[in-house]
Amino acid sequence: MTAYQTEKSRISDTQAADQLVIRQPDDWHVHLRDDDMLKAVVNYTARQFARAIVMPNLAPPVTTVAAADAYRKRILAATDPDLNFTPLMTCYLTDDIAPDEVELGFKEDVFTACKLYPANATTNSSHGVTDIRNIYSVLDAMQRIGMPLLIHGEVTDSDIDIFDREAVFIDRILKQVVADFPDLKVVFEHITTADAVAFVEEGGSNIAATVTPHHLEFNRNAMFEGGMRPHYYCLPVAKREQHRLALRRAATSGSAKFFLGTDSAPHTIGAKESACGCAGIFNAPFALESYAKTFEEEGALDKLEAFASEHGPRFYGLPLNEGKVVLTRRETRVPPTLEAAGTHVAPYHAGDTLAWTFSSLKMD
Ligand code: DOR
Ligand code: ZN
Repeated sequence: MTAYQTEKSRISDTQAADQLVIRQPDDWHVHLRDDDMLKAVVNYTARQFARAIVMPNLAPPVTTVAAADAYRKRILAATDPDLNFTPLMTCYLTDDIAPDEVELGFKEDVFTACKLYPANATTNSSHGVTDIRNIYSVLDAMQRIGMPLLIHGEVTDSDIDIFDREAVFIDRILKQVVADFPDLKVVFEHITTADAVAFVEEGGSNIAATVTPHHLEFNRNAMFEGGMRPHYYCLPVAKREQHRLALRRAATSGSAKFFLGTDSAPHTIGAKESACGCAGIFNAPFALESYAKTFEEEGALDKLEAFASEHGPRFYGLPLNEGKVVLTRRETRVPPTLEAAGTHVAPYHAGDTLAWTFSSLKMD
């Protein structure tokens, strides 16, 4: 028996109600890092997802076709070839990026999308855009060729409260961008507010959003429960409960405007548990199990497949995956730490027991 057949017969022994067989999903937002950390983390993503939109916030950032092509090769070299994983590359927008470079990368199938980081909004974003008008010629080209713009939607002004930065970004920047480029495909990444949900719902079919597992699961109290909890710190930062509830409604609604993007962002435990702890939650190892938890709690397991495997590729204009994956109602114990790059990272849900277990049928 091949591994595939063994897995299949084991799965068919389980009660039908206790398993979900779904089309293989994609992760529409992930940080895979580089070098030893890349080697340590990439297979967690490749195990669950057929494709992933790879963030370009390396140091230095991925701003050219050549850099993206080289990074893609490093990702593939670090990935278990049996997992058949396809990284989809993004271009990091800077104030002086040339529209021709972006267009060339898209036409040559190197860049799938561009990522807008407002300067200094998050990890490795110091080269980001200081004024949206500086990239208007790029947005014009992207609208013309149908290339998606992926937005980290937060203003960075120090006088704006960190919990308001997403809502203010919508009012000050995003509404204007959408008015000026009405046909531009926009993915509002890792949304965290009811304001963002409303903005996306009210927009045209060219406006969508990704939702992370963690923003569905905890509100901002988690960062301060009995003390400072750096492993719950990410950007955009988690908001009030009312916002989490709005995200849960949106993600589990069946609306094609919302799809899976983990924003998995590994940092070493030392970098997280520090006087200036890094933002980011490493949720790749048990990403689907985490989403399944939320969808089950919302009585919407029947909507998980569309959210995880259909809405994203349809928005990007890419084919749906043919493979299947299985979620079985069997406990998964999440280790407290995982080795990575000669040190340790803490996975999201460290030490918890999750009700679902992921298995893949692409292991032949
Ligand atoms: O929490 C985050 N971590 N948010 C981001 O936008 C970047 C990411 C990272 O690269 O660590
Ligand atoms: Zn991110």
